[in-house]
Amino acid sequence: MLLEVQDLKVTFTTGDGPVNAVNGVSFGIDTGQTLAIVGESGSGKSQTAYAAMGLLARNGTATGNVRFDGRDLLHLSQNDLNKVRAQEIAMIFQDPMTSLNPYLRISEQMAEVLTLHKGMSKRDAVTEAVKMLDAVRIPDARARITMYPHEFSGGMRQRIMIAMALLCRPRLLIADEPTTALDVTVQAQIMQLLGDIRRDFGTAIVLITHDLGVVAGFCDRTMVMYGGQVMEEGTTEDVFARPVHPYTVGLLRAVPRLDRDDGELQTIAGEPPDMSRLPAGCPFSPRCSIAKPRCEGTRPTLVHMSDFMGQDRRRACHADLSEVA
Ligand SMILES: Nc1ncnc2c1ncn2[C@@H]1O[C@H](COP(=O)(O)OP(=O)(O)O)[C@@H](O)[C@H]1O
Ligand SMILES: [Mg+2]
Repeated sequence: MLLEVQDLKVTFTTGDGPVNAVNGVSFGIDTGQTLAIVGESGSGKSQTAYAAMGLLARNGTATGNVRFDGRDLLHLSQNDLNKVRAQEIAMIFQDPMTSLNPYLRISEQMAEVLTLHKGMSKRDAVTEAVKMLDAVRIPDARARITMYPHEFSGGMRQRIMIAMALLCRPRLLIADEPTTALDVTVQAQIMQLLGDIRRDFGTAIVLITHDLGVVAGFCDRTMVMYGGQVMEEGTTEDVFARPVHPYTVGLLRAVPRLDRDDGELQTIAGEPPDMSRLPAGCPFSPRCSIAKPRCEGTRPTLVHMSDFMGQDRRRACHADLSEVA
């Protein structure tokens, strides 16, 4: 495993008491693989990634085990962690403007990454940066690299962020809602680009999104989160074809599909849970149409489904499989 996360928990201290944002999340990703982390807003997707990378807000604490290529990320010295984050794991976010410095030309921002972390000369760094902008298909990169961030469209800025993230040839790219701020056509182009990057650079990708629509056809595996927990996980194909958790069923019904009339789109009734007052049982039970008393009383553990069509599949649900449809 390239990245292995075990029993990750994140708690934030607030004036209103503790917020349990991540409650025992485990997953792994292999070299060159793509993993989607999906779930409604507030389900703990981003904090899972931030905790793994040591990027939690000051009021947050993480426990558990996070191994990247054998190294224990939660207990690495700040210096070593900085090195890993600069050179081996890269992150891109929803809004590229928050990560780009508006006052610096793209050439300066990109070159700095390479002069700093790879000890390149400024001149070599700019040459390399132009190559990377070409790779993410910024037209006329050589001329445009001297422009400022605001001179590019939202889609182009996201491409620049991806180019910047790739400069040090990371082995893992964590993309947190990378297409959420973009319109549908540009979204598709960015997803296509991420696919090309995985193919050309062999980069493993964790794609975090609330939008199941962008996951199909892109990610090898899909992990569904709710209330800071993993509800189910398996190959994307299987999770879409045969969801084994009522929450996933609900999410899939809310995705527009070509083979179905859009009139049938249904959203899941009810509200996501308050993470400072999670129920004792399954966090989804208050919204689950097949919940039984046991679901409210006892939290289901995430178990491997050994007898599930020979597939490597995990789920956390008390219901019989025959009830989930
Ligand atoms: N610094 C913080 N202090 C308190 N609560 C926080 C903090 N950061 C995030 N949270 C809470 O953690 C929960 C999970 O958030 P997040 O991982 O960002 O969700 P998402 O699945 O949308 O990415 C949310 O309820 C959010 O309000
Ligand atoms: Mg998020």
